[in-house]
Amino acid sequence: MSRTMRLAVIPGDGIGQEVVAQGLKVLNAVLPSDVKLETREYDLGARRWHATGETLPDAELESLKDHDAILLGAVGDPSVPSGVLERGLLLKLRFAFDHYVNLRPSKLFPHTDTPLAGRPEIDFIVVREGTEGPYVGNGGSLRTGTPHEVATEVSLNTALGVERVVRDAYERAQARPRKKLTLVHKNNVLVYAGHLWKNVFDRVGREYPEVTTDYLHVDAATIFFVTQPERFDVIVTDNLFGDILTDLAAAVTGGIGLAASGNINPTGAFPSMFEPVHGSAPDIAGTGKADPTAAVLSVALLLRHLGHEAEADRVEEAVADDLAARGTGPRTTDEIGDALAARVSG
Ligand code: NAI
Ligand code: MG
Repeated sequence: MSRTMRLAVIPGDGIGQEVVAQGLKVLNAVLPSDVKLETREYDLGARRWHATGETLPDAELESLKDHDAILLGAVGDPSVPSGVLERGLLLKLRFAFDHYVNLRPSKLFPHTDTPLAGRPEIDFIVVREGTEGPYVGNGGSLRTGTPHEVATEVSLNTALGVERVVRDAYERAQARPRKKLTLVHKNNVLVYAGHLWKNVFDRVGREYPEVTTDYLHVDAATIFFVTQPERFDVIVTDNLFGDILTDLAAAVTGGIGLAASGNINPTGAFPSMFEPVHGSAPDIAGTGKADPTAAVLSVALLLRHLGHEAEADRVEEAVADDLAARGTGPRTTDEIGDALAARVSG
């Protein structure tokens, strides 16, 4: 029986284009021959905005729905005003497709450099809420540009939104050997949102008696990411805390060139979107210096999400083996992609 994987591809800007090409190379190499890969490329990002003024036209949003998943490189360029593509494209997609789980695994592969002393064991995942918090655009400014300017940016937290992401995190913790879930918030200061999160976390937790739970304020969590990263297994947190914590997680696990992410709609109502955590890196675009590993690991998350577990494992093993074999001088984006594609097909 032949199966089809319908994949929407948004290479985007800068190194987004370069790393997505390698991700697709590895995907093609790992897919079994009875799976037919159908890709459709979308021209979205800074280039498109400069050319037409569009960020994400409704017709394109509609046609994106008609796919099993989306692979995104990165969008953005210093020439585009801050916020235009973030709100008009990335956040619009996350909200429209209800990507309420923003999944960011953090693993220190053997033989990978970390700035941390003593080479701690790091293997945790951050489940970041993706559709609420301070990212919803609920705010405004008055008397803008005057000495009396007032700005608000209201964090939105709903019982339903918190419960569904907390439940997803419990499920993931339950499925892992250590079965530990840590809630990160700041409920001593952000008391209204913080108590909603903590109450939901405790209530849902009663349904998962095997999962050990912990709570940390976000500032304390940043300390433990550096001093005791091995204490974490699964972390659940709000949109803003998760954004910041996962950049720190990337820094301690070998850098932004290795950090993958998934914007997931667990119900399957809309396609989920997989992307490296990094941006378009205009400082190295076109030089061949971009590490495509984060994009390739994002392809592994995509495969796992679509039920191709064995293929996802092969991609992750190829990355682990490739990292272990590194050290003989720098390789280009293309060379790393070729090496990974050869490992998954060999
Ligand atoms: P960035 O992640 O693009 O770059 C930060 C630093 O990390 C740069 O020095 C860059 O050279 C390096 N770097 C990033 N990815 C790398 C890779 N794969 N291999 C080797 N080095 C790598 O973040 P920055 O500079 O803050 O943003 C650049 C643009 O990207 C901005 O327009 C920003 O808005 C956008 N951006 C887009 C994101 C997305 O599409 N999801 C996420 C983050 C930023
Ligand atoms: Mg970020």
